[in-house]
Amino acid sequence: PEHAEVDELGELRIGGVGVSRLAAEYGTPLHIIDEAGLRAQIRRFVDGLRRRWTNSEVLYASKSFPIVEMYRVAAEEGASIDVAGGGEIVLALKAGVDPKRIHFHGNAKTTDELRLALDTGVGTIIIDNFDEIDRLEALLTGPQHVLIRLIPGVEAETHASQATGGVRSKFGFPIEQAVAAIERISAHPLMELDGVHVHIGSQILNVDQFAQAVDSISRSGTFRTYDIGGGLGVKYTYDEVAPSVEEYLDRVVEAAAAHLPADARLVIEPGRSIVARAGVTLYRVVSVKRSGRDFVAVDGGMADQLDIALTGQRYEAVLANRMTEPWDEEVQIVGRQCESGDLLVEDARMPAPAVDDLVALATTGAYSYSMTNNYNGALRPAIVFVQEGEARLVARRETYEDLLRLHEPVQEA
Ligand code: LLP
Repeated sequence: PEHAEVDELGELRIGGVGVSRLAAEYGTPLHIIDEAGLRAQIRRFVDGLRRRWTNSEVLYASKSFPIVEMYRVAAEEGASIDVAGGGEIVLALKAGVDPKRIHFHGNAKTTDELRLALDTGVGTIIIDNFDEIDRLEALLTGPQHVLIRLIPGVEAETHASQATGGVRSKFGFPIEQAVAAIERISAHPLMELDGVHVHIGSQILNVDQFAQAVDSISRSGTFRTYDIGGGLGVKYTYDEVAPSVEEYLDRVVEAAAAHLPADARLVIEPGRSIVARAGVTLYRVVSVKRSGRDFVAVDGGMADQLDIALTGQRYEAVLANRMTEPWDEEVQIVGRQCESGDLLVEDARMPAPAVDDLVALATTGAYSYSMTNNYNGALRPAIVFVQEGEARLVARRETYEDLLRLHEPVQEA
């Protein structure tokens, strides 16, 4: 994170708060968010895009970190909100987000979800398929702003499960059906077609691919709005190089100037690049096993960092309470889930860890908490926002009672 330092005792401090204090007060595993860094990053996108292209909008892709406080912070810093399901609509509304600033995505929105969106006044629905047009037609009683999602035919250079813009994608209308879809939507008296949307994928490190997306979307016709989705990649490991927000914006706007109408509204949907680097996950060492390889097992794992298994995401770890001792060991940081793939960090360099030490994983703000699950009865970690020496709890740790609550009907029977 931007606001991280090592104090005189050799302990990692985030937002001016020491990790030992955080672990003692809130328990582990714990997600820690550098709030000032997070807010500054949202501003970089919002102000940076506006300076380059006045008629623009940044949608925070909330699937990356869908917590009530995050929706509130994003809206406060000038972003609108991209949601991908009824649950995210409910969370955004709970945060007090103006429903007009919510954009609703998804390739399988149910009738109930569409009804929820219409009833609560969600501003824009991004239409993915013909069945969704049918559904909307049956539900609409007043005007509704919509965008149409197209498959741009851009093969993103990223993990296969993170690429969404290739011709075989399940998301959006194939180009050859775009005209028919646009005609149907335009003919409907209550659907107000603002424009088109594409999203090529996630963790994309080559900004030229976003220029390709702009070029591709421009070919679908002349509209008021062009939404080119999210996907800017971030630096996770020491050896990785990622483009800056400014390099990304420069490239996108350069392509927009070349291909889009000068008065068009340009929309982007960053998620990962807004929250990833603001987040750190803190674990406590439960066991140090000296065997063929040295295994340092911590009190979390793939239940709270699913992407290590899903996309092969790699992280860096530090021994957060002993930062200044020599980093002379190479260890395997493993989780507690019953899978051999539950390896948080391979060959991590650090001082020899001992039981009860604190291990911090960096760059965990995006797609960690949002994909948390209860595998092996794991409980969702708590989340704290830290800033200027103060910590505040924004999501409490899940409890055994929470787990049991879902099974109440069975217990009563
Ligand atoms: N817009 C749409 C329509 C999307 O589907 C996504 C992400 C975004 C924006 C934001 O993309 P970002 O800027 O965060 O890259 N679970 C995977 C990532 C899935 C991304 C899904 N869509 C992972 O752990 O890597």
